[in-house]
Amino acid sequence: MKVEKICCIGAGYVGGPTMAVIALKWPEINVTVVDIDDDKIDMWNSDDLSQIPVYEPGLKDIIKQTRNKNLFFSKNIEKAIDESQMIFMAVNTPTKQTGKGAGMASDLTYIENSARTIASFANSHKIVIEKSTLPVRTAEKIKEILSESKNKFTFEVLSNPEFLAEGTAIQDLFKSDRVLIGGESTKTGQEAVQSLVEIYERWIPKTKILTVNVWSAELSKLASNAMLAQRISSINALSALCEVTGAKIDEVSNAIGYDHRIGDKFLKASPGFGGSCFKKDILNLVYLCQFYGLDEVAEFWLHVVKINDFQRERLAKKIDNYVSANNLNKEVGVLGWAFKKDTNDSRESSSIHITYSLLEKGYKVNIYDPKVSKNRIMEDINEVRNFKKTINPDSIIDNIIIHNSIKDLENSSLVLIVLTEWDEFKDLNKSKEDKIIFDFRNILEEKENIYRL
Ligand code: UDX
Ligand code: UDX
Repeated sequence: MKVEKICCIGAGYVGGPTMAVIALKWPEINVTVVDIDDDKIDMWNSDDLSQIPVYEPGLKDIIKQTRNKNLFFSKNIEKAIDESQMIFMAVNTPTKQTGKGAGMASDLTYIENSARTIASFANSHKIVIEKSTLPVRTAEKIKEILSESKNKFTFEVLSNPEFLAEGTAIQDLFKSDRVLIGGESTKTGQEAVQSLVEIYERWIPKTKILTVNVWSAELSKLASNAMLAQRISSINALSALCEVTGAKIDEVSNAIGYDHRIGDKFLKASPGFGGSCFKKDILNLVYLCQFYGLDEVAEFWLHVVKINDFQRERLAKKIDNYVSANNLNKEVGVLGWAFKKDTNDSRESSSIHITYSLLEKGYKVNIYDPKVSKNRIMEDINEVRNFKKTINPDSIIDNIIIHNSIKDLENSSLVLIVLTEWDEFKDLNKSKEDKIIFDFRNILEEKENIYRL
């Protein structure tokens, strides 16, 4: 099938960068990204490229080269679906808040709504591609919705999970370790797989494009994220042991990583993993295991999340113990709100949880992040506040000050906590002998006043 037009539903952290790269590599294909959030589409179309909603190194340049040439951000969802041969679904799939599986399973409302939107506007053969991370067998549900359409159209559903990491999304898309495409073994299923293989083949070596069955593709995404997160929880669990024994976690991690069977990646101790995927995907996996009666397996994976929560609370307590033991004012400066450097995304960031824990302990908290907006920071705190139904909620908000520069923040508090590894924080090493710095990202050299993990 000749692909001339591609549509993507969801202009977020995955949809935006992924479609920008496809548009760059395929100037002869028109790529249209749509979203239910009109304001987001306006931001993607903004003349000032610093206003596009996703901050990713290298993204602005690609948008500059492709936007309104063959990459379009549009509010006309109907037209984009009707005209395209290939439709990617890159909408968010948060953890369910109510109903069966609440707190564990993925909320598939957005995916199902997107499938319904496709079902209402499609009038010709469509290859529908799951980009969002989905529980195994979601493709069945999508097929069911598409089959119920009154419109006469045929379709194939593929699973093509995205493995990009935020902050390095463009590089990850350019040089993917692998591209995974799941499709049905029928003739038409395999033809659809082939059409998508051809899209990626333009820049990804064929040996790195893996074609598998749909369920394997869906499960591989959950499993990859669970394995990565598991390494972080393993090293963070060991960091707690190092602290009480006098071993140094970086030295232990380095020694472990030298074993080529283990490898040195994803072994950095930290205040805990954040981001929109790890916790959600593991809980999803846990739910799946429970559903199939595999309680021990469910418990195994759930502990990866429990250790993450433990690490956050352990570090908040460490600060509190230090402040109490030294009779200091209950005031701290938090450096970094994003869940990792080089992104403006703060979803599930450990900064939120550590800050909130300190606020609950009566602290005044000064915050600075180079890319996360003030509004976003306050929304994050309010979300936890609403969820926890904190007693005396106003006092929590009164105790937060968000600063515009690292200088302002440094002047604000005696105790500073590094929670995101932004490059600009490395300069803290040079100055500030009068400050007490807790470096929970181990980016500073150890000194008398600098405590590393
Ligand atoms: C992605 C994946 O798709 C998700 O499955 C993964 O687990 C996390 O990363 P992401 O791109 O990071 O999601 O989410 P987000 O930045 O929130 O973007 C999703 C977009 O979809 C939003 O802009 C939202 O407005 C849009 N959306 C949502 C729709 O266009 N239609 C809907 O019905 C729901
Ligand atoms: C992750 C997966 O890496 C990616 O393949 C998938 O598509 C989406 O989920 P992302 O969440 O964007 O990507 O970032 P990642 O680099 O994996 O970092 C996740 C969290 O783990 C961050 O908070 C990071 O600081 C933390 N981390 C990472 C550690 O604490 N230690 C490490 O050694 C590595």
